[in-house]
Amino acid sequence: MFPKRNKMSILVVGEGELACQGGVMSKTITVAFFDTKPYDRAYFERARALPEFADVEFKIDYFEGHLDASTASLASGHEVVCVFVNDHLDRAVIDALAAGGVRLIALRCAGYNNVDLEAVWRRIHVVRVPAYSPHAVAEHAAALLQTLNRRIHTAYNRTRDGNFALSGLVGRDLYGKTAGIIGTGKIGKIFAEILKGYGMKILLNDLFPDEGFAASIGARYATREEIYAASDVISLHCPLTPENRYMINEATIAQMKPEVILINTGRGGLIDTKALIEALKDGRVRGAGLDVYEEEDKYFFEDWSLAPIKDDVLARLLQFPNVLLTAHQAFLTEEALGEIARVTLGNARQWALDGKTPNEVCYQCRETGKAPGCAREGSGRCW
Ligand SMILES: NC(=O)c1ccc[n+]([C@@H]2O[C@H](COP(=O)([O-])OP(=O)(O)OC[C@H]3O[C@@H](n4cnc5c(N)ncnc54)[C@H](O)[C@@H]3O)[C@@H](O)[C@H]2O)c1
Repeated sequence: MFPKRNKMSILVVGEGELACQGGVMSKTITVAFFDTKPYDRAYFERARALPEFADVEFKIDYFEGHLDASTASLASGHEVVCVFVNDHLDRAVIDALAAGGVRLIALRCAGYNNVDLEAVWRRIHVVRVPAYSPHAVAEHAAALLQTLNRRIHTAYNRTRDGNFALSGLVGRDLYGKTAGIIGTGKIGKIFAEILKGYGMKILLNDLFPDEGFAASIGARYATREEIYAASDVISLHCPLTPENRYMINEATIAQMKPEVILINTGRGGLIDTKALIEALKDGRVRGAGLDVYEEEDKYFFEDWSLAPIKDDVLARLLQFPNVLLTAHQAFLTEEALGEIARVTLGNARQWALDGKTPNEVCYQCRETGKAPGCAREGSGRCW
């Protein structure tokens, strides 16, 4: 059981959950950490030593594999599982976690499309890191756009080979062109500001427009159809939901300006990759800068350089010189990793000590982040 504090601020917890650190009683929080990479471990080990965690003791078991139905039993006996974007928490996994006594799913990311939030409802609470460094992701989107537009990736390889020819490297000024940004939350807004700095005209789209923000950068909200028709660059910064899966598909690409550049640092499932490939083949799309791919969980974060890629769609995508694919690394800055570790452990700590955290999510949050009648408003917990 998660503990309650009594009036003297001494933690009241279940059997065996109190530990004594330097004469101070502290709560032990057991964590099963999945999909561990060396950088995750380094930043979490650093974060757990922060003074703000002096009143808790984290016992973290690091597992290299993904969390799925075949590995869920490893979480048995831990209060918390800590997972990342490509761990799949479907109903079968959630059943196994609940049976193993897991009380909290701590996502060390912002998105939560990989959790079956309806299966988890009233069984295991889910927390996330809503913002670690939106600058990291927005700056990466800008890097993809600039690299692709000016063919820096091609130029880099050429000059290293002693090829100093410029043919095929002609880009376009971004100044004066139109950018359409779909999803104007934390990341989309920063990206809009960056592109404004380039002197681009900015069109915005969001389910919940922030007119004040638009006015502050001289941009305006537009329908998706208008964005498709008018934009030279379209960048996706919304979460993946059942409603917007394949938002970019054959029909919507057909509405786009010829030679549009597409940037996606949101989620792979926002784009029908096969439709994108067809549009790249016939030149309707000038370039695609992708940090996410709809089937990325099979390949991303691992070294496949010595094995054949069996995913024919991914293999085809990688053949285009005007496709720049990074393996979900937009978040990967020192600042973001430090903040992810600090906020994730902070979520687990706050949950263990207070039974609630503002970073909880539930299926009602999925679309709006603030569903009408949200239980969290009153109790501080989704349920
Ligand atoms: N590549 C990476 O490393 C990386 C890192 C962090 C986040 N992300 C992705 O970026 C997304 C955005 O992150 P954020 O921190 O800006 O989130 P956010 O919650 O601050 O903003 C998301 C915005 O999208 C809007 N939205 C939701 N559905 C929409 C739709 N169908 N059409 C238009 N707008 C819609 C929301 O209203 C909200 O304003 C995340 O959901 C995640 O999928 C990727």
